[in-house]
Amino acid sequence: MVKSLGLLLIAATSLLQATYAQEDTAVYEDPESGILFNIWPQKFMTFGIALPPDGLENNATEFLGLLTCTSPGGEGVGWCGMSLGGFMPNNLLLMVYPNENEVLTSFRWATKYSPPELYTGDAELTQVSSAINETHYSVIFRCQNCLQWNQGETSGGASTSTGGAMLGWAHAATSPTEGACPDDAVLERHENNGLIDAKFNEQVASSNYESWAALANSTVPGTCA
Ligand SMILES: *[C@@H]1O[C@H](CO)[C@@H](O)[C@H](O)[C@H]1NC(C)=O
Ligand SMILES: *[C@@H]1O[C@H](CO)[C@@H](O)[C@H](O)[C@H]1NC(C)=O
Ligand SMILES: *[C@@H]1O[C@H](CO)[C@@H](O)[C@H](O)[C@H]1NC(C)=O
Repeated sequence: MVKSLGLLLIAATSLLQATYAQEDTAVYEDPESGILFNIWPQKFMTFGIALPPDGLENNATEFLGLLTCTSPGGEGVGWCGMSLGGFMPNNLLLMVYPNENEVLTSFRWATKYSPPELYTGDAELTQVSSAINETHYSVIFRCQNCLQWNQGETSGGASTSTGGAMLGWAHAATSPTEGACPDDAVLERHENNGLIDAKFNEQVASSNYESWAALANSTVPGTCA
């Protein structure tokens, strides 16, 4: 049996058919940290972004993120992920899943609609907080070097100065196997996915960014050999 490194697989056909939603921005303040996010709620998950103070004038290289995903398979079950450039191939992918009492994360990369490999660039994720309950898992994080990416000969990035970002999402009801160590996690192909044409509002960029970013002091590596 072929054991693939991961299947963050967005079916090409469903993407071609997708008439993606142009999403109005909602604003959400995390009660614990006080971080104010622009959010774009989808059926299976919600993604939120906060940018550095000049993020609407210059292209930010980092952001504060919020991911809240449903667990239709039961408490602490499933995985979800984002493409920070929209489509699956040649954009930085972030996948997230609950494991024991932690929410683990792994950066991935795919050159086509096939199992992604590990990302080899210098993106770095530190957590502010995470939560797992009967219906959802959630993580708030700082993602540095995440809005410009390169893998081999390919580079790209998001352009926050244009006032929005094209984001992709994927959601699976089944947990990864080998999930103790995020970079070893083997994913079942997701059942649901979509694109978000995410518009920012002016609150996305905040003068509080640095103090919020300082809350992201937790590295959560899982248990790796
Ligand atoms: C942000 O990136 C886009 C795409 O590369 C570019 O067109 C734009 O000029 C950049 N913005 C700034 C302020 O450099
Ligand atoms: C579980 O977490 C979700 C997402 O944070 C929240 O909306 C929901 O109210 C929580 N459920 C319970 C029972 O606390
Ligand atoms: C991390 O930040 C939290 C919230 O500000 C604080 O309670 C905790 O002590 C900090 N931990 C470390 C290791 O600095």
